[in-house]
Amino acid sequence: MAYSSSRQLRSKGPCMNPTAPDPLKGAHVVVFGGATGIGLATATAAHARGARVTLVGRTPAKLAAAAAPLGARTAIADITDRRAVEAVFVESDPIDHLVITAGALGGGPIAVTDPDVLLAALQERIAGPLYAIKAALPLMSPTGSIVLTGGQFSDRPSAGFSVVAAAVRGIEALAQALALELKPIRVNVIAPGFVDTPLFNVMGEAARNGLLVQAARSLPGGRIGQADEVAQAILLLLVNGHMNGEVLHVDGGGRLV
Ligand SMILES: NC(=O)c1ccc[n+]([C@@H]2O[C@H](COP(=O)([O-])OP(=O)(O)OC[C@H]3O[C@@H](n4cnc5c(N)ncnc54)[C@H](OP(=O)(O)O)[C@@H]3O)[C@@H](O)[C@H]2O)c1
Repeated sequence: MAYSSSRQLRSKGPCMNPTAPDPLKGAHVVVFGGATGIGLATATAAHARGARVTLVGRTPAKLAAAAAPLGARTAIADITDRRAVEAVFVESDPIDHLVITAGALGGGPIAVTDPDVLLAALQERIAGPLYAIKAALPLMSPTGSIVLTGGQFSDRPSAGFSVVAAAVRGIEALAQALALELKPIRVNVIAPGFVDTPLFNVMGEAARNGLLVQAARSLPGGRIGQADEVAQAILLLLVNGHMNGEVLHVDGGGRLV
């Protein structure tokens, strides 16, 4: 491409100049999975920088508790339910950023787990984001962005989580293809390692603690991540107008051990 003037070389995206107004101020950020964990930490950090947030999830009581301190709009939807996802956007304001952290701890050994249970991970992590992106698109700002959630299983698969591994690897491919297809909207992936969130509560307290203590011991820093550490990385993906098709790892070095 030939540049006719230096102006064409300048970014038209969100400005990273520290003296410029924060690009999140006044922005509308929609978070699927925003009631707890990484999604709530992202919504809280975005709100602290002046963003308006909409929290989407399946459980009204959790959403209400999360939304109250943020003055957030809430919407009830299971991300695997296409019609419910479309309804989220019917009366929505224009959207600057769409963040999708919705997901539960799925999986199981293939030999003993019903295929429909295993495939629910694909429905939740591939079909769900597709429904949300497609429904949000008409409302999205061309200078906005989408962040999908992958995970460490993409690089470091674990027995018993084969379909989750396939799903998170697939999310990376999906995001990179969509970064080309949806341009100039940017599409990125956040890839957390082990993070201290309610995700693991379904295991029961003893199993949860055992897993997370073992994970912490394996990491160079000797601890697992906190939701706000992942949230800050997500905000970087939202405001840095030159990050696109990126898979940003926040795993404490988990891919190295
Ligand atoms: N924590 C980790 O160590 C870790 C590591 C790698 C990747 N991740 C991924 O990061 C994402 C966020 O997890 P988290 O750690 O923040 O856990 P979390 O606190 O359990 O957050 C997940 C949120 O998603 C919502 N959700 C779950 N399934 C949904 C569905 N089908 N439709 C709509 N909302 C749904 C949950 O609320 P409701 O149940 O009320 O809907 C919950 O608020 C997940 O995709 C998880 O797999 C987490």
